[in-house]
Amino acid sequence: VEDGVIVALEDDPAADLVVDVAGGAIVPGLVDCHTHLPFAGWRAREYEQKVTGVPYEEIARGGGGIASSARSLAVAGDADVLAQARSVRAEMLRHGTTTFEAKSGYGLSRDGELRAVRLARELGADRVTGLFAHAVPPGYDAAGWMDEVDRLAAEADVDALDIYVESVAFRNEDLERLGEIARREGVPLRAHVEQFNANRSVPVALAAGARSVDHLACLHPDDLAPLAAAECAAVLLPGAEFLGAEELAPGRALADAGAICVLATDCNPGTSPVSSLPLVIGLAVRRYGWTAREAFAACTLNAAWVLGMEDRGSIEVGKRADLVVLDGPVEHVPYRFGRNPVRAVIAGGEVVA
Ligand code: NIG
Ligand code: FE
Repeated sequence: VEDGVIVALEDDPAADLVVDVAGGAIVPGLVDCHTHLPFAGWRAREYEQKVTGVPYEEIARGGGGIASSARSLAVAGDADVLAQARSVRAEMLRHGTTTFEAKSGYGLSRDGELRAVRLARELGADRVTGLFAHAVPPGYDAAGWMDEVDRLAAEADVDALDIYVESVAFRNEDLERLGEIARREGVPLRAHVEQFNANRSVPVALAAGARSVDHLACLHPDDLAPLAAAECAAVLLPGAEFLGAEELAPGRALADAGAICVLATDCNPGTSPVSSLPLVIGLAVRRYGWTAREAFAACTLNAAWVLGMEDRGSIEVGKRADLVVLDGPVEHVPYRFGRNPVRAVIAGGEVVA
């Protein structure tokens, strides 16, 4: 490693510093391309309601869900929001995440969304996505709020645009419109689709030129082959499937069909309060029937592609020296489930954890 970049893959007797990794595997720094940082507080009470059988609609009617996190964010000061986000970010780093994306989405107003984007930048996210179309704010209908989204997209400093398409959120026609907005702004389009219901949003996202479609727990069988053939990533979120009580995305079939398969935490206070990619790797291997190596590729090289960061994601000469030293072979990561297998984290050539 020289100046933060990998310069050779074999022993160099002239090296200034040699690190003995004691037989542990070295893998590329993990890339989390889908998180909902920053947010304020957690929603553990809702999780308990969910697992003990209270229906989602009832939780939402009682003021829970995205609206609850929006209220918490609105009343929290910048310093408190950043302190919480930094502690989650530190957890992610200890579990091997060297690159992460953050989304707005809990602002739910013009000023709130601009503030969320600003806080995501202050947090140091490598990519910031404007999820301005997350829930329809009170006093608007979907189309009316999309007019605001159009203005926000023009004004906000974001690297990508995202939308939540669901019966309780936005519609396929809003996704189509966000595609036009993203084209105009010259940023990638991403979309939360087929999370709780099959809305047939994948063909719409593909026609709109989306970089990724995320969730896919209710992917329609007819949409699998077109997605696999497209230059659009299938971002699977097994933490949200497991804790958020979603169906299971067809991970094995997507991989077999040649889709660009990606894994991320979806770290958020509602459906996936998960910060560890090794845990997500364990879930993906068990529940999709992936090999450990497929799972690692999905949250390194493939995830870097989603973020448009081709300077990282693999251990190759010329790439950024983002490296994770494990304390055993890669196959132990999913197998010894729930345990942190990370011994050391190197980012840009520096040991950071
Ligand atoms: O990715 N689907 C919408 N957004 C988040 C959850 C939001 C929340 O419950 O706070 C997700 O699962
Ligand atoms: Fe999400």
